[in-house]
Amino acid sequence: MYETWEELEESIKNCNKCKLCHGRRNIVFGTGNKNADIMFIGEGPGADEDIQGEPFVGKAGQLMNKAFDALEIERENVYIANIVKCRPPQNRNPEKDEANACINYLRNQVMLVKPKIIVLLGSVALKNILGDKYSITTARGKWIENKGIYYMPTFHPAALLRDDSKKIYFWRDLKLVKEKIKSL
Ligand code: URA
Repeated sequence: MYETWEELEESIKNCNKCKLCHGRRNIVFGTGNKNADIMFIGEGPGADEDIQGEPFVGKAGQLMNKAFDALEIERENVYIANIVKCRPPQNRNPEKDEANACINYLRNQVMLVKPKIIVLLGSVALKNILGDKYSITTARGKWIENKGIYYMPTFHPAALLRDDSKKIYFWRDLKLVKEKIKSL
């Protein structure tokens, strides 16, 4: 584990621990307030993120921006990161070996940010952070406390773009997050 953001970012820039390094244009390190109370964790960069080097700047990101508006929080005030820092080809899910190779970078980010709340966006984030025993359809919408951090699993915004019927649950889950932020 690195004690500074600079060392951590430098080591990710030079990372070749998994095959995703071969296809990346840019690493997508993470963005936002490094002392945020709330962190959002997605899956991995898509095409737009790979080009811009920033998480959630494409279509799913536009939906996240609406979510931040609904939560009445500024995007700059939260910290946003992904399970994997390099783009999986064709936007497929990260494979287990890729997520395993990358997860300690994210754990290092969590250690440095020290958030009180972590919103897990989708199944890949949920399983890689809290364990394979969880399923997004049953775990979403309920707080899971672990080592002093409150986790809220919810659907990934890209899933809402594919399936309208999930939207109502996503907004319901975010309402719980809004209430929790107020109670901090
Ligand atoms: N989807 C993710 O999970 N993360 C991003 O950064 C963009 C899309």
